Amino acid sequence: MPVVELTDIRKSFGSVRALNGISLTVEDGENVAVLGPSGSGKSTLLRIIAGLDQPDRGKVTFDGQSQQGIPAHQRDCAIVFQHFALYPHMNALRNITTGLRHGLGLAKAEAEARARDITARMKVDDLLDRKPREMSGGQRQRIALARALARRSGLVLLDEPLSGLDAQLHTTLRLEIAGLLRAAGATTINVTHDQLDALAMADRIAVIDAGQLEQVGTPDELYTEPATTFVAAFIGTPPMNLLPVDDLGTSSFDHIMIKTGEPVTLGVRAEHLTLGPAATEAWRLTGVVGLVEPTGLDRIVQILTDRGDSVAFRCPIPAAPPVGTRVTVSAPLEAVHVYARASGRRLGHVESAGIAITASAA
Ligand SMILES: Nc1ncnc2c1ncn2[C@@H]1O[C@H](COP(=O)(O)OP(=O)(O)OP(=O)(O)O)[C@@H](O)[C@H]1O
Ligand SMILES: [Mg+2]
Repeated sequence: MPVVELTDIRKSFGSVRALNGISLTVEDGENVAVLGPSGSGKSTLLRIIAGLDQPDRGKVTFDGQSQQGIPAHQRDCAIVFQHFALYPHMNALRNITTGLRHGLGLAKAEAEARARDITARMKVDDLLDRKPREMSGGQRQRIALARALARRSGLVLLDEPLSGLDAQLHTTLRLEIAGLLRAAGATTINVTHDQLDALAMADRIAVIDAGQLEQVGTPDELYTEPATTFVAAFIGTPPMNLLPVDDLGTSSFDHIMIKTGEPVTLGVRAEHLTLGPAATEAWRLTGVVGLVEPTGLDRIVQILTDRGDSVAFRCPIPAAPPVGTRVTVSAPLEAVHVYARASGRRLGHVESAGIAITASAA
């Protein structure tokens, strides 16, 4: 299974900079999700790895071998496109076996055995005789995935493989696919705009925005220490509360004194804010409850602070305050992240960034 190494990949379409210097290493057998919003460059990156597009600059290597000049059909990788196309006039079996026979040169019997094996494991072997128009969208998607996995390539590239499925099928299929890929030991690059897919399937996640990598790390690393405000706002449900602090130098922000040389944004996760004044030094926010959202497990409560910021906190069901109540919530200082406002980069926790923040007596 190849190690995929991308070095400073750049790609423009006319005046649109789709990729602006992407460097990333995907290890042997690793499943890396490339996560980003629409238009961030995800499909472009995948097409360059597959050899369907050429970068303007930068290098793609598989196991240390430069892929420059190697056409797509000679690269050992399987790709499932964002808008996967099954051949409409072929049944599912032939959709799967055609590429195996003509692309990989397998004999008919071997190609059909592989098709039956993978579709059985994906529980769609009863569809082999059907043409695409005789299948539901979710069934077509499974067959397209089966077609890619039947190649048994060391490298699998998936472009939004689960888009357009209903919530239940989506959850089932992502666990199944992750399991199949792990069992096959395939190196996988999985493009998605869905943070839950990335968190559930990937060993590591590369967050991309506007053609640039924001952060690469394990799901836990991205959640607990988002490197930028973009990642903080993109990962987690609800997203991290991010509150700008406007004054330069020493400023008073609710009950916290902040001393930095630059304007900052403070971040805190909803589960780190608790109702009521805290016993120890804490960041306190006071506001009026605007919305109480049930999750089944608990409540997500939105308050509008006196400064006009919207802040979410999680609350056990019996303690949830009704809409319109005035409440104070607090977070321990070590749960407060500090970001430089201009760059969006993380400066650290309140205690660790050399930023003096002390709770005032008030
Ligand atoms: N062939 C092309 N010609 C011109 N512009 C392109 C082309 N392909 C992509 N782009 C532009 O490059 C940028 C990145 O596109 P890309 O398809 O990689 O985004 P994406 O992250 O896959 O988005 P989505 O989540 O919507 O699929 C976009 O601004 C897009 O309009
Ligand atoms: Mg795309």
